[in-house]
Amino acid sequence: MLKDRVAVVTGAARGMGKQICLKMAGYGADIVALDLDEKSAQQTADEVRALGRRAVAMQVDVSSKAQVDAAFAAAVKEFGKVDILSNNAGICIPAQMTEVTEAQWDKSFAVNCKGAMFMCQAAGQIMKKNRYGRIIVTASQSGKAGEFANGPYCVSKATIAMMMQVLTIELSQYGILANSISPGYTDTTLFRNGMADRAVQEGRPAHELIDELMSTVPIRRPAQPEEIAELVCFLASEKNSYVTGTDILIAGGNVMY
Ligand SMILES: NC(=O)c1ccc[n+]([C@@H]2O[C@H](COP(=O)([O-])OP(=O)(O)OC[C@H]3O[C@@H](n4cnc5c(N)ncnc54)[C@H](O)[C@@H]3O)[C@@H](O)[C@H]2O)c1
Repeated sequence: MLKDRVAVVTGAARGMGKQICLKMAGYGADIVALDLDEKSAQQTADEVRALGRRAVAMQVDVSSKAQVDAAFAAAVKEFGKVDILSNNAGICIPAQMTEVTEAQWDKSFAVNCKGAMFMCQAAGQIMKKNRYGRIIVTASQSGKAGEFANGPYCVSKATIAMMMQVLTIELSQYGILANSISPGYTDTTLFRNGMADRAVQEGRPAHELIDELMSTVPIRRPAQPEEIAELVCFLASEKNSYVTGTDILIAGGNVMY
């Protein structure tokens, strides 16, 4: 489905980003694995190579335009092109709106919004020249319905759907499709740490909190990152020829808005 495509994936060290790298490689893509955590990104690249595809890993902070641009230049040098961007790097800094500090707000937007923009910008410039591309940014169900004490995350993630609309208007003429996905609760470090922190705040065991949350999800369990990766692979492929400028909720039936 992705034979000989070149995919740049951020957040590639673990969680969804790692599974996206492995699944894309399974479908035939070569992978540029980017993350703050270089050692784990290298591990992902090793696992991609074990599947028979080419891979490079680089340490990149998506909120640094210089680092993002350097990574794309290195990717083109290595592989000659970039066909796919899957931007998953994201952070969640919980805080109430009346309490959030300027630094917490700025950090959330630097990674979740500005970082996504830098990645789409750099990818879009290369894809325009090749007149082909697939951009997929991981937003969140938290960007669709507000949550208590999660404003920096909810608001920064809500910007992504509009980013995809604008990119689509600008880039469709070049054969580039741009979409976001909004996962619900997904079994990753980010989710488990978030639940553990909330459990401490609320003075009850994390498993009780998770059970309570899962009772609101019709499928009654969190997603596995591999399930999110499958949707990303479809959107990243030529099988997708008409879905663009939209956000796809992948939340086990959890309708949040
Ligand atoms: N897990 C969930 O329940 C859930 C739900 C909805 C959306 N999401 C979103 O999905 C994406 C992936 O999340 P995950 O659950 O796999 O999280 P995770 O914390 O397991 O992985 C995130 C990865 O992003 C990397 N990263 C963070 N900041 C970065 C930066 N500035 N530059 C480069 N890399 C950076 C981290 O090092 C980490 O490897 C995130 O954007 C997250 O907001 C997660």
